[in-house]
Amino acid sequence: MKNLPVSKSLILFLSCVLPSFALAVDRVGDFALLDQDGAFHQLSWYNDQKAVVFLTHANACAATREALPAITALQSRFGEQGIEFMMINSQGIDRDTVKSELRGLDTDLPLLMDDAQVVGETLGITHGGEVIVMDPGDFSIVFRGPVGSELERALSSIAADQAVAVTSIPSSGCEIAYAAREQHEQTGVSYVNDIAPIIEKNCADCHRENSIAPFALNSHQLVQGWSPMIREVLLTKRMPPGQIDPHVGNITDMTNLSDAEMQQLVHWIDAGSPRDGDTDPLANLVWPDSKWRSELGREPDVIVKIPPQRIPATGVVDYLNVYADIPIEDDVWVQGSEIVPGDYSVLHHVITRVVQPEVDPDSVRPDEGDDEFASQKLTDVPLAGLTGYVPGRRPILEQNRGGLLRAGTRVSFQLHYTTSGKEVTDQSELGIYLYPEGEVPEIVKSSGGRALNRSFLIPANAKDFEVTESAIVEKDAYLVSFMPHMHFRGKRMKFVANYPDGTSEELLSVPNYKFNWQLRHHLEPKFVPAGTEIVAIGAFDNSQQNAFNPDPEQSIDWGPQSWDEMFIGYMRWTHAEDLQ
Ligand code: HEC
Repeated sequence: MKNLPVSKSLILFLSCVLPSFALAVDRVGDFALLDQDGAFHQLSWYNDQKAVVFLTHANACAATREALPAITALQSRFGEQGIEFMMINSQGIDRDTVKSELRGLDTDLPLLMDDAQVVGETLGITHGGEVIVMDPGDFSIVFRGPVGSELERALSSIAADQAVAVTSIPSSGCEIAYAAREQHEQTGVSYVNDIAPIIEKNCADCHRENSIAPFALNSHQLVQGWSPMIREVLLTKRMPPGQIDPHVGNITDMTNLSDAEMQQLVHWIDAGSPRDGDTDPLANLVWPDSKWRSELGREPDVIVKIPPQRIPATGVVDYLNVYADIPIEDDVWVQGSEIVPGDYSVLHHVITRVVQPEVDPDSVRPDEGDDEFASQKLTDVPLAGLTGYVPGRRPILEQNRGGLLRAGTRVSFQLHYTTSGKEVTDQSELGIYLYPEGEVPEIVKSSGGRALNRSFLIPANAKDFEVTESAIVEKDAYLVSFMPHMHFRGKRMKFVANYPDGTSEELLSVPNYKFNWQLRHHLEPKFVPAGTEIVAIGAFDNSQQNAFNPDPEQSIDWGPQSWDEMFIGYMRWTHAEDLQ
């Protein structure tokens, strides 16, 4: 295991008997934080550097302010020698407060915002103005102390690949308080009342039998057993998947844990994951035993079996295009749809295209870039679109959405498989949920747009190669969702509205895009006037620092396979006129 959390009792014990500078926090584990502008920084991503220097920031703190010029001078001296410089604020205060202070300081260092304070606790940050130098390869703290000659000596040694002689010296500065930790130390965190509900709400639906995660979190014993790993995935923001910048936009299905949830989990784990109560709420959860996951709680009304595919153990499987009849005798009104993979280990994605009865299915090839609303352009009647599948995608089921599916309609599938080391046959299914007869509501039509850029060339080894593209919303509309789509090298994407009056607004930011989790993010319906430009601003990481990168030495352009790249910002809206 890469990182063993330092037991809280150890920290407590040491901080009572020793001055804070001597904290026995040697190896603290990897962590990730957003900076004041929402950019994602993970310590391990910097492991091609020799060290990362953090100046601890506290708001309106003279010690931080006075240390800054020295840090800036060290940055210009060592910045080109494999040493990275940043600030970190563990006060748990809001971004705007910090940003307004930064405007008065002469610095362009990123300031990592430790909103839940758990990184500061883990690093043993006790006051602003202190410097912590970390090895991003093994997450050890190699120096702790004030700016000054010892720090300078330490950095010279690191730059020269020599051992640091003096690794910690006392410093003083503005005290940083950890109110939540203090409270939890007094009251404890309850497994039954605090932890189990957090796991139930945020983890259990994937981490249970017959779901997509590789292990279940359905008892105290299992959660306790996985605790070191859980701590790591929380601190690196890897779980729950699909996290966004919580300070941007108004997203209704955000997966991020709240700061309070994060603190409860981490403090409970640090206390040894104790059990209380006589019953185990997680062990008593009851799940529907159906593989269909829609919140309607029933099997779909129509099931389309996607023609089975034999997937070899190894090698590359070209995209497969197949079609199937939809087994309906009469026209039906669709409420929603969902695809259930036959084998999660090989099915990567399914793109569907509804083929109207009069169209030859051989003439229709779904393509990445298609949207399920493509087929609606044929007519004014709201025709049903059908969902595709990407990892993490939930069933599409929205109030007053859907449309007519005519008898004789077929559906064309593009199937993308990745091999798993084992030959398997995948039999995936498309389930369609219908409105009960006589209960078809007034259906509101949706429109889609996409910002699709095919004309980029990502240089070999580029760490942050930015690509942008935009789409115009032609009529007054309510934006309802965004979905970034890139492949293995995709790093980040945000969506910004440029309004006709010249103002602009960020509506969604996905700071740490992961190909494995292609999620659609829903907005609290957001009115945008006709002529609004929606810009997707994204970036690719084609360096070796990207663990998913198949080959950093290749320059990459658009292409269909996962090791090629794509840049698409899907967006969906409803025209205001359709709501009247
Ligand atoms: C949307 C589904 C989903 C949710 C929600 C989810 N997980 Fe996971 N989790 C997965 C999958 C799939 C994997 C294995 C693949 C991976 O590591 O990405 C995984 C892996 C893990 C791992 C192992 C990491 C490793 O290195 O192998 C831990 C620990 C974990 N999850 C904890 C959690 C916790 C704690 C929560 C809730 C706070 C949570 N997960 C929420 C799907 C999910």
